[in-house]
Amino acid sequence: MSFRDDTTSMTAQIIDGKLIANALLDKIKSDIELRLSTGKRAPCLAVILVGDDAASAIYVRNKRIACEKVGIQSIAHNPPANISEIELLSLIQTLNLDPTIDGILVQSPLPSQIDENAVLALIDPAKDIDGFHPFNIGRLAVRQPTLRSCTPFGVIKMLQAAGVSLKGLDAVVVGVSNHVGRPMGLELLLAGCTVTSCHRHTKDLASHVRRADLVVAAAGKAGLIQGEWIKPGAIVVDIGINRLASGKITGDVDFETAKQRAAFITPVPGGVGPITVATLMENTLKALEMREQIASHT
Ligand code: GUN
Repeated sequence: MSFRDDTTSMTAQIIDGKLIANALLDKIKSDIELRLSTGKRAPCLAVILVGDDAASAIYVRNKRIACEKVGIQSIAHNPPANISEIELLSLIQTLNLDPTIDGILVQSPLPSQIDENAVLALIDPAKDIDGFHPFNIGRLAVRQPTLRSCTPFGVIKMLQAAGVSLKGLDAVVVGVSNHVGRPMGLELLLAGCTVTSCHRHTKDLASHVRRADLVVAAAGKAGLIQGEWIKPGAIVVDIGINRLASGKITGDVDFETAKQRAAFITPVPGGVGPITVATLMENTLKALEMREQIASHT
């Protein structure tokens, strides 16, 4: 693709995340069917949902449905909101040691009595299908990725599927969370972008966004990125998922204005969300295959 250098109005190509995710899910399904036909077992994902947060319950439900679609076994653990940190760590240790479990997912956010960092650090990096463990983030940082954080890796695959070439692009990531913004920056660096990370202390957010070939919004603030800031012909990826008072789900980018300027844009919902879930499925299969590979050498 090439960049437009004029400011005339254009309408972006809307990247259909569901379509790309479904193609990935079909591929995972057929890979798992192939495993079963050769006598191997299906992957198994343990999903821990602490308490009864409504939004988390919806995310976990979507993950379970995806597991069913592709043939991954999922095992639900739903401890109460008042579970102690020690009890949760003990559950994780049990799952770490269980050879029939390939992936361990602890849905965040966790209740305040639990130190999320301690929980994530205890998960066996080989079963860390969210790609949140410091070991796996470190692998990505030193250009040796293994299990990669689902949303950032999903974004890369989504852009590749849309035919976007990332090498040399000026990329601006807005948001620096451990789970999304930071690994997103590392993924884009690995893909050959020149990366700028913006955050709450950034002096002039608009000036960074205005010069970006690729904007990735991951701040979790509805309407933070104004459409007029988007450089004509830029690529816009919106990772934000914000629920408005009306109940409507919206991203971080002012979509209607941005789509008049961008060359490519992802919608919310129906953009990055489905790819994240599909990448989680891919990681679960990969985690099993990696452990099988190691076992075959010992
Ligand atoms: N909470 C919101 N998104 C995610 C995710 O991708 N993984 C986990 N474990 N928790 C989340």
